[in-house]
Amino acid sequence: MCFKGMLTIDIISVQPNMFRGFLEESIVGRAVKKGACRINIINLRDFAEGPYRKVDDKIYGGGPGMLMMCPPWFKAVESRLAEGESARVIMTSPAGRKFDQRTAEELSKSEHIVFMCGHYEGFDKRIETLATDMFSLGDFVMTGGELAAAAMTDAIVRLLPGVLGGGVEATANESFSNGGVLEAPQYTHPVDFRGMKVPDILLSGDHAKIEAWRRAKALELTRERRPDILTPNS
Ligand SMILES: C[S@@+](CC[C@H](N)C(=O)[O-])C[C@H]1O[C@@H](n2cnc3c(N)ncnc32)[C@H](O)[C@@H]1O
Repeated sequence: MCFKGMLTIDIISVQPNMFRGFLEESIVGRAVKKGACRINIINLRDFAEGPYRKVDDKIYGGGPGMLMMCPPWFKAVESRLAEGESARVIMTSPAGRKFDQRTAEELSKSEHIVFMCGHYEGFDKRIETLATDMFSLGDFVMTGGELAAAAMTDAIVRLLPGVLGGGVEATANESFSNGGVLEAPQYTHPVDFRGMKVPDILLSGDHAKIEAWRRAKALELTRERRPDILTPNS
């Protein structure tokens, strides 16, 4: 279900309408219109049986809430994969590895990604066998995987060639990409706002000095706010 040379993202969800605004009003939507990638939103209920298209059931052993059942998930995911295809099938879960910029960069080089958005109490354990990866957005629990899949899709798609104005430079110096540090402080017009002035160096036109200033500031900011992401040699 993917097209050679272009990233296809399939998002499987029980709340497909949640993606309307995301796809219509965003840079991600524009990327699709420009032909930088394809995004398909798939309703899990289309793969469920019975008049109510049930996708969840009570939990064996007891406990509150309902769990997503195997049959619709296996049918839905398998329907997106061509024979022998090695797509990245991503289960969204608070129990997954924390999604980060390095992962977004790696995934932006793939041809086919399938996101699985959970709901209710989550997935029957056996559904995990469909996934190649399990990613979390952070150490908190949301009601569904839609916002996680949308956030990850955004982080991936903006890295695709031609999506952001400014080419590769637009993302090269950003936080987490630039040698793993945060981005240096940036300023725009006016030069003086309520006594807060743009640093003189940024108005000097000396690109080598500006570059050195930005590197130093990026490091300083990272030490101050995110010392946890600094490697011993930075
Ligand atoms: C209410 S949560 C299930 C939580 C599960 N019972 C637990 O305690 O780990 C329902 C769904 O939301 C999604 N979800 C919730 N929090 C998430 C997070 N931090 N990162 C990624 N997905 C999340 C997952 O798809 C999950 O299956």
